[in-house]
Amino acid sequence: MLRKDSWQINLTGTDTNQKARWEKRYLEGRTAWDRGQPSPALALGLVEMPAPPARVLIPACGRGYEIAELARRGYDVTGVDFSPSAVADLKRLLDTQQLEACIVAYDLFDWEANEPFDVIYEQTALCALEPSRWPDYAERLYRWIQPGGILIGAFMQTHREGGPPWHCSLATVESLFPETRWEWPTRRDQTISHPSGLKELSIYLKRKK
Ligand SMILES: C[S@@+](CC[C@H](N)C(=O)[O-])C[C@H]1O[C@@H](n2cnc3c(N)ncnc32)[C@H](O)[C@@H]1O
Repeated sequence: MLRKDSWQINLTGTDTNQKARWEKRYLEGRTAWDRGQPSPALALGLVEMPAPPARVLIPACGRGYEIAELARRGYDVTGVDFSPSAVADLKRLLDTQQLEACIVAYDLFDWEANEPFDVIYEQTALCALEPSRWPDYAERLYRWIQPGGILIGAFMQTHREGGPPWHCSLATVESLFPETRWEWPTRRDQTISHPSGLKELSIYLKRKK
């Protein structure tokens, strides 16, 4: 169940080519990233998260199984994705399970948060964007999360050129989310297996004050 004010649609995004490409992948069933259920990254991330009803943002949420799981647990969840099909599937999932979340069909580069979030769950979102856009995106994540808030990140490790998904090395994550702005954990090598056979680097960061 969607909140009444939550169904925002923006059809004039700046990157219509990218939007059309992602939508085509959904329509043609070329969705190898889609687990069909919440990622194990969520179970790990929940340990780091404040209790419900903390505010959680999932950018580029796709079909949003994690949104349903967090909503079921009582979190105040917002999901943003510009693919109409993914958003429609997510809406159906929430309706079927009688869950409530704020789902926004929008380009992340045109959208702005009304107020910062306690948690951002970043799963295969950055890796879906052209690397030239990563600094802008990282700046947005910093802005959208409140001081002391948690960024739960799953960054694809493809070890190859091109994308999506684009390879995002630990060194790149470190430069996008520098220690001047983010508290880093001691352990930086935790990975999560992906059904595609690839691994995701699992990193939890806390935004400094
Ligand atoms: C690899 S999929 C990951 C989806 C989801 N996070 C998951 O793990 O299942 C990338 C998602 O990013 C969305 N996306 C890519 N660029 C976007 C943008 N600029 N604004 C909003 N959504 C975007 C696509 O529509 C797609 O659903």
